[in-house]
Amino acid sequence: MTKQADLNRVQMLKEEISLHNHRYYVLDEPSISDDEYDGLFQELKALEQKYPECITADSPTQRVGSKPSQQFKSIKHDIPMLSLDNVFSDDQLSQFITRVLSRLDTNSMPEFVAEPKLDGLAVSLKYVDGLLVQAATRGDGEQGEDITANVRTIRSVPLRLSNPIASTLEVRGEVFMPKLGFQSLNTKMEQAGQKTFANPRNAAAGSLRQLDPSITAIRPLRWYAYALHADVPIASHFEACQHMKEMGLPINPEIKRCTSIGDLSTYYSNIASVRQNLPYEIDGVVIKLDSFELQQALGFVSRAPRWAVAYKFPAQMVQTQLLAVDFQVGRTGAITPVARLETVEVGGVQVSNATLHNMDEIARKDIRIFDTVWIRRAGDVIPEVVKPVVEKRPDNAQVIELPSACPVCKGKIEREAEQSVARCVGGLFCQAQLVEAIKHFVSRKAMDIDGLGSKQVELFVGLGLIKEVSDIYSLDKTVLLELDRMGEKSVTNLLNAIEASKKTTLSRFIYALGIREVGETTARVLANCYVDMSALINASAENLESIPDIGPVVSKHITHFFSDKHNLKIIDKLLKAGIHWDVVQKKSSQHLAGKTYVITGTLSRSRDEIKADLLACGAKVSGSISSKTDALICGDKPGSKREKAEALGVPVLSEEDLPGLLTP
Ligand code: IVH
Repeated sequence: MTKQADLNRVQMLKEEISLHNHRYYVLDEPSISDDEYDGLFQELKALEQKYPECITADSPTQRVGSKPSQQFKSIKHDIPMLSLDNVFSDDQLSQFITRVLSRLDTNSMPEFVAEPKLDGLAVSLKYVDGLLVQAATRGDGEQGEDITANVRTIRSVPLRLSNPIASTLEVRGEVFMPKLGFQSLNTKMEQAGQKTFANPRNAAAGSLRQLDPSITAIRPLRWYAYALHADVPIASHFEACQHMKEMGLPINPEIKRCTSIGDLSTYYSNIASVRQNLPYEIDGVVIKLDSFELQQALGFVSRAPRWAVAYKFPAQMVQTQLLAVDFQVGRTGAITPVARLETVEVGGVQVSNATLHNMDEIARKDIRIFDTVWIRRAGDVIPEVVKPVVEKRPDNAQVIELPSACPVCKGKIEREAEQSVARCVGGLFCQAQLVEAIKHFVSRKAMDIDGLGSKQVELFVGLGLIKEVSDIYSLDKTVLLELDRMGEKSVTNLLNAIEASKKTTLSRFIYALGIREVGETTARVLANCYVDMSALINASAENLESIPDIGPVVSKHITHFFSDKHNLKIIDKLLKAGIHWDVVQKKSSQHLAGKTYVITGTLSRSRDEIKADLLACGAKVSGSISSKTDALICGDKPGSKREKAEALGVPVLSEEDLPGLLTP
């Protein structure tokens, strides 16, 4: 054979094997025997060995896994990877639909798509000119890990798309381990004397996050694609799924369009009844608004879209014995009773601790030490004690009592009137609270000081090296070098990470302070509304409450926090230590203060974004029209609000009027 003939044969084999991969792993319809397939594969391998220059990244032989790496590279997602809110009943599902309809300002039911909620791991794949170039884990939603080498070994992930609809594509989906593959993997692990996996999800995670891709390659992983981001006009999720299918991506065959709540609820019960027979584990169904235009109009809150929801199956419950109760102190001093249990397996996971929530819950459910109790675990949620099995109560069962002193600092424990939570009043003098406050301060979504892990925080606080958060920025190299297991390299890395954290954003800094009830979203809203830290520090409760989404409770926590001299001193020290951020040009100088707007209809940006812009100019945004409304900002398909505005003589603005409105 001539070299050219061989090279032609290589090309043909690549295409043919890819086709058989697709038939076998994606369509589940193999058309040749395993032996025939192996024959083709070996032939290609031999030719590639002869002409190594013709080995390309999309060759089926390249799925065996490349060299192990030291650690995963971090990858910033172009579009954040969101998670989903959960509902657990038809009632909650109806409430979700009602919320969608009212936000869309319509009474007619739009189309939804329902699909199984796979219990695996979310991945995001990037294809450029049809070739798989990158795969990342979800991570914290903003930033994930580069697992390209591992994902390349999953046979149902095409290395090359057929007829890609755009030159750059991002495809998201779920990697999972089918039930049968999981069983045989565990059998093999057991025979080899290795630790087995608790459930298919853990097995999938353990296999995917392998630094050595050749291990991933021999693990029975599959995946289904469930989202497509491409810069081409696509009308709906359903249509996107058709496109993905045509490009050779595996789409769950159970996916269905639904046009009524009845349809959705029937879909849920049908899937629940076939759940046991599905070849993979699922923990519910995902319901998505089909139209991309409507999805956009709804936008998202915090980490979850408003246009989709997970309708989860009920959590798994088992019985075990409650052996003892410990009390843990949280960041805000909240005392949480924790049940120590006779270890038991719930939904494939070994559980020996569970939360008892608070003393009111314990009293209401009448849970006692030595009771047999029901334990519930749903997905990644912390297991909880549901109720006691009263018939099994032993004679020596003991009533659970709240300790009178904090188990850590021995300070007083108090309960505010009408609050179920008991708190240690020791504040940052209580080591437990200090440790938790610092862990929060350095955490990923706050100051993001990589390398200052829980263990180190506990150690540094225990040794008195950190007495308040600002001490982090004056940790001394020579002192650190004297500590056990702290070599030159780890100390340098730590100090570099601390130094790097000084450049941050206002919203991260506000979040890092750990003000009660001020989570990421509220921190972002505050950073948007106040020009700088001193404006926020000096904001009155009234001023804060004029921001929609900030009610009297949150505003009280904020003003209370900033009225504390100790807190102000720490903020001052932190800023003096060099913490800084780019001052984002605020949209205005509060020139819309005192004005109230209502937004309706479909606009080119989500209503939340437009709302944030208006809030930043000092305006209020309300959900309903009244004679006090200054103007209605009206997009397409406005519904009844437009008529009401016209009837009341409220001016109606269009999206084109916004730039003018937002400019002082
Ligand atoms: S859609 C914005 N569809 O569930 C929409 N997610 O709780 C984001 N998941 O991180 C996801 N099956 O890992 C979607 N058919 C499906 C899914 C699915 C499983 C996972 C996914 C996500 C998590 C959210």
